[in-house]
Amino acid sequence: MKIRLLIATVACALAAGPFLQAAETETELSKKMDKMGGAFRALRRQVADSSKNADSLAKLATIKENAMASTKLEPAMKADKPAAEQAKFVADYQAEMKKFVGQIEKVEAALKSNNNAEAEKLVAAMGDAQKAGHKAFKKEDKKK
Ligand code: HEM
Repeated sequence: MKIRLLIATVACALAAGPFLQAAETETELSKKMDKMGGAFRALRRQVADSSKNADSLAKLATIKENAMASTKLEPAMKADKPAAEQAKFVADYQAEMKKFVGQIEKVEAALKSNNNAEAEKLVAAMGDAQKAGHKAFKKEDKKK
């Protein structure tokens, strides 16, 4: 009977292990990023359509709010850097994120003046910034 209980306990721990590990990789920053991800996907799809500008501006507001909060956070990858490089790594990341907020503001201005062709180009540039930002500062992307 005791042995069965032991086996059941070990089996449960093994089954739960991967989920607990996944929960650990969730950071303050990755939560903000996830919120930006949903809004950006929708924005990309509809940015050319001027009949959706009000909703596109709402999606941008979500992205901006989370990007602004992200300027004050630190990437998990910091921990992989030697102690002497960490401060510069975080400062570089935060400077890039502030630049990204500036890009968001440009898209806002284009949409407010109903310049959808310009907004479309600027949203493509946001996609480039996302790629570059992830390559430089996101743990998983760096390993690839
Ligand atoms: C439209 C722009 C962007 C979108 C939609 C986006 C989306 C995402 C998503 C979905 C994740 C994964 C979150 C998770 O693991 O649950 C992520 C992670 C991350 N992103 Fe972005 N991202 C964008 C721009 C940027 C920029 C510009 C930077 C850097 C300047 C950046 C830095 C990071 C970092 C460092 C992580 C890893 C999280 C951590 O270290 O805790 N992202 N992003």
